[in-house]
Amino acid sequence: MYIERLVFRDFRNYEMLDFYPGKGLNILVGDNAQGKSNLLEGIYILATTKSLRASREQELIRVGQEYGTVAAEVVREKREDVSVEVIFRPPQKGIRINTVRRQRVSDLVGEVNTVFFGLEDIDIIRGEPALRRRFLNLEISQISPQYCYQLACYKRVVEQRNRLLRDLRESRDNPASLAPWDEQLTLYGAFIIERRQEFLERIDKIARSIHSALTGDMEVYQSAYQPSFPLGGARTMVGIRELFTEKLRTLRREEIERGMSLIGPHRDDIAFQIDRMDVRLYGSRGQQRTTALSLKLAEFLLIEETMQEAPVLLLDDVLSELDDRRRNQIFEFSENRCQTFITCTHLRSFQDNVLREASVFDVQQGRVRAA
Ligand SMILES: Nc1ncnc2c1ncn2[C@@H]1O[C@H](COP(=O)(O)OP(=O)(O)OP(=O)(O)O)[C@@H](O)[C@H]1O
Ligand SMILES: [Mg+2]
Repeated sequence: MYIERLVFRDFRNYEMLDFYPGKGLNILVGDNAQGKSNLLEGIYILATTKSLRASREQELIRVGQEYGTVAAEVVREKREDVSVEVIFRPPQKGIRINTVRRQRVSDLVGEVNTVFFGLEDIDIIRGEPALRRRFLNLEISQISPQYCYQLACYKRVVEQRNRLLRDLRESRDNPASLAPWDEQLTLYGAFIIERRQEFLERIDKIARSIHSALTGDMEVYQSAYQPSFPLGGARTMVGIRELFTEKLRTLRREEIERGMSLIGPHRDDIAFQIDRMDVRLYGSRGQQRTTALSLKLAEFLLIEETMQEAPVLLLDDVLSELDDRRRNQIFEFSENRCQTFITCTHLRSFQDNVLREASVFDVQQGRVRAA
């Protein structure tokens, strides 16, 4: 798939953008603070409805304006072409698909697929577990709208169950009132665990071979799901739910004492190893960066395999931190395969043959011009 036309209104530092990118490699070049990352962010929002950077949606609207929109016309191979739009008017967020307004914002997820790789992604490897869970949630949602929905239900249940646990701690009432919440927690939870397990197994296989290509067979990549309680080989939702229920029973008293839900997908993690060493603790910065890259390219291939069509690849500022070998691997990877947007502050990092094939655009103060 590729973005044929991208339109922003009062989004970040763009007053009005009407941009027709190329089908292949698009290089966005410009000084700092001109709007290069903002442009990639807008595309990412069209795929996920969420920003990777903004903590509040108000930040996405051009300062001084009441609302902002991002929209795109997208050409797809396996499905009908589609136009998508996200309108931010805090506290509201609206979406349109083929100009028709939809009630559920999550309906948009999966219409456009993208993989984003930026400097921040190193934090998936070395940051807190919450960042790895966010990675899982965003990426699995892209290929499974059902996951997105069940996750929202799960989060609601955890909140309500935590409230009840705190009430029980204060009142010392009969904990039998937990039963319906346990039912729901394990129902949604088991679904999420099953999907995460399957996703991580697939991604692990793919990332291993990508990582060995990126490092010229010098390093062995391994990643593993670390659920919050042992799954003991359980693979189906039914089996996982049984274990989950059983484990909750043994934790009942402790959960009430601490007033929170102690196990479940909200406590999951992923372990990454290079040459059998924990990359989070022992990896060099370059190793952590390459591990993140392997993971993201694996995700790309997984989406491509699942959707039968290559997603749009967004590379923010990553060339400067990679060596020549890895840089060339990225170009080889994306060449003739997908639409790519890559941001940089100068064109020195590109070889002539890459520049010849690419569409190059200058980004300056929220305007994009063919270079
Ligand atoms: N809501 C907003 N309204 C107006 N301007 C904004 C808004 N949000 C961000 N900006 C401006 O956008 C600019 C940053 O854009 P962006 O992050 O895309 O820069 P960049 O071109 O990627 O730069 P760098 O090379 O430093 O990464 C900043 O000058 C910032 O002030
Ligand atoms: Mg930037």
